[in-house]
Amino acid sequence: MTAGATTREAEASDAAPDLTGAELTGGLNGWSTSASAVMGVEEMVLLDGPLGIVSKAMDERDTSLIMPSGTALGATWDPELVSDVGQVIGQQGVERGVSAILGPNLNMPRSPLTGRGFEMFSEDPLLTGILGAAWVDGVQSQGVGSCTKHVVANDTETERRRMNSRVEPATLRETYLRPFETAVRSANPWMLMMAYNRVNGTHCSQNAELIGVLKDEWKYDGVVVSDWYGVDDTVAAANAGLDLEMPGPATHFGARFGEAVAAGDVAQPRLSDAVERLTRLADRTGRRSGGTSPAPSRLRSQHEQRAILNKAASRSFVLLKNKDDVLPLDLSGIRTLAVVGPNASKPCFQGGTFATVRPEGDVVSPLEAIRAAVGPGLEVLYEPGAAPSSALPLTDLGSTAPDGTPGVLLEVLPAGEAEDVLYSEVRQASAFVWFGPVPGLGAGVPGRARITANFTFPNATRWTLGAGGTGVSSLRVDGTEVLEVPPPAPDDVMGVVARAETQEIALELPQGKVEVVVEMAFQPGRVQAITAVATPEEETDPLAAAVDLAARADAVVVVIGDQQGSSRESADRTTAALDTASDRLVAAVAEVATETIVVVNASRAVLLPWADNVKAVLMAWFPGQEFGPALAAVLAGKEAPSGRLPVSFPWRDEDIPGWGTGLDAELTLDYAAGEPMGYRHFEGSGRKSRYSFGYGLGYTTFELVDAVTSTSPTRQDPADGVDGIIVRATVSNTGDTQGRDVLQAYAKAPGEADFRFVGFKAIDIAPGEAAEAKIALDPLGFRRWNSSNAEWSIPSGEWEIRVARNASDMGILCRIAL
Ligand code: BGC
Repeated sequence: MTAGATTREAEASDAAPDLTGAELTGGLNGWSTSASAVMGVEEMVLLDGPLGIVSKAMDERDTSLIMPSGTALGATWDPELVSDVGQVIGQQGVERGVSAILGPNLNMPRSPLTGRGFEMFSEDPLLTGILGAAWVDGVQSQGVGSCTKHVVANDTETERRRMNSRVEPATLRETYLRPFETAVRSANPWMLMMAYNRVNGTHCSQNAELIGVLKDEWKYDGVVVSDWYGVDDTVAAANAGLDLEMPGPATHFGARFGEAVAAGDVAQPRLSDAVERLTRLADRTGRRSGGTSPAPSRLRSQHEQRAILNKAASRSFVLLKNKDDVLPLDLSGIRTLAVVGPNASKPCFQGGTFATVRPEGDVVSPLEAIRAAVGPGLEVLYEPGAAPSSALPLTDLGSTAPDGTPGVLLEVLPAGEAEDVLYSEVRQASAFVWFGPVPGLGAGVPGRARITANFTFPNATRWTLGAGGTGVSSLRVDGTEVLEVPPPAPDDVMGVVARAETQEIALELPQGKVEVVVEMAFQPGRVQAITAVATPEEETDPLAAAVDLAARADAVVVVIGDQQGSSRESADRTTAALDTASDRLVAAVAEVATETIVVVNASRAVLLPWADNVKAVLMAWFPGQEFGPALAAVLAGKEAPSGRLPVSFPWRDEDIPGWGTGLDAELTLDYAAGEPMGYRHFEGSGRKSRYSFGYGLGYTTFELVDAVTSTSPTRQDPADGVDGIIVRATVSNTGDTQGRDVLQAYAKAPGEADFRFVGFKAIDIAPGEAAEAKIALDPLGFRRWNSSNAEWSIPSGEWEIRVARNASDMGILCRIAL
């Protein structure tokens, strides 16, 4: 039987169907699965990921290491290192009692506008699949599962719960399912999460065809789970092959799955299949009574963990430009070093999602790390030069609770007007989320949550204040209501909460003590959230001071980029540009300084309109909490940047794949409009990217001397592609320092128009020496999906293989016959 078949076998049998273990198929609460005494299965905790382990209670006091984001890991082109990072996350999961981590995200940033692109590895299915599998391997080596997400075509955030990705079958198979297939084939994640969106008309968690590909074609043996609140219909999802509904308490699965089987709407073997997979997950994660807990392959000390994060951060940096070898900085020639830009003192580590991680231990900012690295003999002066582009938590602005303690006072009260405080605590955040029970009140009842923050202003000040939440929110300043915010539309509850959306009002706040209160009255619901934020209006333009400083300094390091709210879950961007204040800052600094080095702290492809006017551009992504020290080491030349772009950078928005196309009236996004995407779009459209996929400089130079294919191709089942194609590339280091180069291979099938990435190899070469890189080409890169007979085939004839140093480099052409 296929995973999605609907049968009435249960009716045919006289015996009552066996419903044992049905409870396992529904979640227990926000982050746990249900236990089953009869199956000997305990609850399993599933937590976000992928940038670190998120607090189960969404509490700012639960910290964990912030890892490099997907794009940063993508830029390392280093599966071993990515697996080490996975091990660190896995180990952190073990320490926090987690059974599976909700990551990695193997969707594809079809364009730089993809709101959640920072979580994704790259625009290429092979690179994404290889690095994703390495991450999964690392995590699972610790006895913690990976819940690889989101199957599939969840590449855009607009209307993500309802939108329909219309993808032609060959594109779906060769591009969007590919990373998942590679991860399943080589790392076998213990869970796969089905996406919210529809694919070709059917919601992924109810899509029998898609789940059939996983379970029947790929022989996937793990648990297929819904995205959070992503199930709408018990029978459709159960028959399609879904095994687990999350989060709990169960509404469509659990007992309802059993009832659907008893009623004959779902075949009994489908329930057995789900229960068997969930029980297997419990076995794998050590959550089955009488079973053994898997032994982690190797526990790392805290020091080793930080060292891995540091290496991953510095290896992720991509040097896009380095005119006159301005980097590494020649510290002997610098007396005054100007550091400029908001991200130097307040770096950005993550986008706006639920998966927000609070950093563990010390976090050294780029500014502090640069100061420490250059030592006392050199003057390092700082000016932010631009205000942060998104609103800040009240606690970042010096708020105190009414009793004078730094922080805000958080209170929970009953519904209505009564002032009976049921819970109160001083907290160090001003956005709060509760899945299920609200503290002091419990679950399933209406109530009120309130944030009170006091400020003392030396002078009257203009601020923009923002308030929002899952119910009606009001904002009061010194006892007067100044704003009422209606509750959000109910469709994407996770999105609403993840976006922490607010409505804002600009106000003149008087000199002296001011009390700001945000109160939110909520109805019973599965999740509640309240947010209070503020943006201070600058009195003087911070740009002038930064430009002054830049003009006086011997060299300027500008650190600009995104803020946490710049890229968000459940919302897409409208431009690839950085915020205007950052672009304005770089342009103004470049006018007055000769040695301008720009570090971009944004985890997506961005527009760099000022790149021609500066000496160096270093792309730093969201590189994890070791950003500062790793950056200082690279600027000072203790480490060389060796990252390569995992996404192509456009010259202008209009050149982005699919620019100008969006959802139609039926909320369908037609992928045809942006395909092929990434480097294939740029190379094929003749539009040229500004910096291409695979591109990156270092502190030395390389020359590709020779490339030959050595082939003993074995034709296998076409679904498995062609094994045994190897390219040997000779590269010489023509500079005067040791360096790491990444050799890449791109293949063009007979009769096709463009080249596709099929393999890579990184090598370290000493100055003046040459070395051979042996690139084993990806077998699956040699098959094509034939939509007319729904089968894989291997195009025969002469294939061209281009060995190159990035996607737009002509490199050396070889040919092989298949
Ligand atoms: C996201 C998932 C995430 C889940 C739990 C959903 O809204 O799409 O990626 O794992 O929430 O936080």
